Amino acid sequence: MNAIAIDGPAASGKSTVGFLVGQSLGFLFFDTGVMYRAVAWAIQDRGISSTDSETVGRMAEELPIGVSAPSSEEPDGRQATIQIGELDVTWSIRSPEVDRIVSVVAANSQVRQALTQKQRLIGLEHGSGEAGVVMVGRDIGTVVLPEAPLKIYLEAPIEERARRRFLELSQRGKDVKLARILEDMRVRDLIDSERAVAPLRPAQDAHEIQTYGATIQEVVEQILLLAEKVFGVGPVSCGKEDISSEGSSGIALV
Ligand code: DC
Repeated sequence: MNAIAIDGPAASGKSTVGFLVGQSLGFLFFDTGVMYRAVAWAIQDRGISSTDSETVGRMAEELPIGVSAPSSEEPDGRQATIQIGELDVTWSIRSPEVDRIVSVVAANSQVRQALTQKQRLIGLEHGSGEAGVVMVGRDIGTVVLPEAPLKIYLEAPIEERARRRFLELSQRGKDVKLARILEDMRVRDLIDSERAVAPLRPAQDAHEIQTYGATIQEVVEQILLLAEKVFGVGPVSCGKEDISSEGSSGIALV
């Protein structure tokens, strides 16, 4: 199976690194967090409380979440286009408001059951194909795709992760305070790692990588070296352009 599972806490670098690893190897990249975020955004939009477990669970089962590779008309730095029905929610699911409730949504067992099932199907389908898949989340190596031959767990101190999230939101023009982000992140870490179902933790056979003090490129290269050992493949020779042109064909993942 050509699958790489990348897990780790919020803003540990999973999607930045995972996306680049996927590009280098010609593997499909799939960030599972966007599905939890889409459900969180939808309940907020409809005025449903995140603690109304049954309604939130049903929402996860029924919400028409679409994830597809960005088209060439969407050159705004997105890694994927996320839709709920026809509505493009790619950026709205990344708001601080969604950040604040998404961990509660992700701790809901009905939500996890619905989304894990879909994610596992995507992982199996693409991981068993020739192209391969890089899946990122919190429980990919432990629950979604435990058979992935290469598992990575990224770490970074919470202050550094909060700083990264602060920069990311500020660059998108959001008026945010570092102290508030740090506080929210503490709460999210706690909920993500202490929930009863599929808590955040490294799989037993995961390679743990500290991203603090390392450049993105260094972390990517570390993973590519491991991938070469496990899969016997190095970076694809077709390069970035070819892969994004595959993206522009609009592969729908979900
Ligand atoms: O990685 P992220 O910040 O976009 O994730 C959003 C939330 O979804 C976060 O609270 C953890 C949760 N999540 C999860 O529980 N399992 C996953 N496989 C991916 C994300």
